[in-house]
Amino acid sequence: MRQVILQQPQRILFGPGCLHACPDEMLRRGWRRVFVVTSPQVAVAAGDLFDTWREAGLVPTLCADVDREPEVALFEAVLQQARAASPDVVVGYGGGSALDVAKLVAAMLDQSRDVREVFGIGLLEGRTTPLVCIPTTAGTGADVSPNAILLDENEKLKKGVVSPWLVPDLAVCDPETTVSLPPAATAATGIDALVHCMEAYANLHAHPAVDLYALEGIRLIGRSIERAVAHGGDLAARCDVMRGALYGGLCLGPVNTGGVHALSYPLGGEFRIPHGVANSLLMPHVFRFNLPGMPERYADIAEALGCTREADAYTTARNGLTRLVQLSDRCGIPRRLRDFGVPESDLPRLAREAMKVTRLLRNNPREITMEDAEAIYRASY
Ligand SMILES: [Fe+2]
Repeated sequence: MRQVILQQPQRILFGPGCLHACPDEMLRRGWRRVFVVTSPQVAVAAGDLFDTWREAGLVPTLCADVDREPEVALFEAVLQQARAASPDVVVGYGGGSALDVAKLVAAMLDQSRDVREVFGIGLLEGRTTPLVCIPTTAGTGADVSPNAILLDENEKLKKGVVSPWLVPDLAVCDPETTVSLPPAATAATGIDALVHCMEAYANLHAHPAVDLYALEGIRLIGRSIERAVAHGGDLAARCDVMRGALYGGLCLGPVNTGGVHALSYPLGGEFRIPHGVANSLLMPHVFRFNLPGMPERYADIAEALGCTREADAYTTARNGLTRLVQLSDRCGIPRRLRDFGVPESDLPRLAREAMKVTRLLRNNPREITMEDAEAIYRASY
């Protein structure tokens, strides 16, 4: 059996209300000066949270500048603010973008290197500043994963830093933080999490220890995402989707994703299509393309989505695909790439860009050539 490295935060708090434990968790580790990386909207939605942190004895400095999927320049501006604040701990509070910036800030705080020098796998040499991740969406899995993504604006391509040093010391996953998330964001982030689980399960580097998380994540998100989208205040549904997202995040380090993510990066990089939306658009088409590579695995996914097991794996898997399309529709996910301002004439160039995401393409159940990538873009157009 292939080796696999399971890496998790030293401590994961999960459950409604666990956010309230944050001040204690940090103070008992001697972390008082807190640099919080968040977005303007999430900072407003946080209400008096940071006042309660102050009352508890923490000294938070708030940086609410992550108002988009971050490019290198935005990251560098936040890093300068963090250096000026000289914190004991960096906290990411928000969606994947805020968490990714926080992770890189903590890792680069005492480094003289440029972040572009650490794009790739295993190029960070360490991290001396403690890191806490508190997701307010249920999707990216950034709260537990060793990955962080920035847009390299010079190349108009999203690039990843992958390193064990990006796994936070503490992750605090409180489903109550997601109840005010609007339906569209709930849908896109939830489908992103579902894709993490699916791509980790139907993956050339899949591993039994990770399959457990992946299949359970698919089951939880599949049964509850529609309710979480339609009734944001349904805490049971929010718990399911956030637990699915946590499991999806735990798949990212040891196995990671494949073709859907590889093809979605150029869409985010150049056309700023939100990550979850890009994945949702591509997911059924990549599923259909990949199916002959791993019919049994896709049948397992279909079963986890609630489909009955048929005698033939293909039939079961195809029913799973129908169920996925249904799920996306009911969640109001946009279906067509053309609706996002992408000119059809750009599809060949996007396919060329996608071919550069080799670290994910190598995981895909079937080899995706440039022609295949273009055909998948066309199918989703
Ligand atoms: Fe993702």
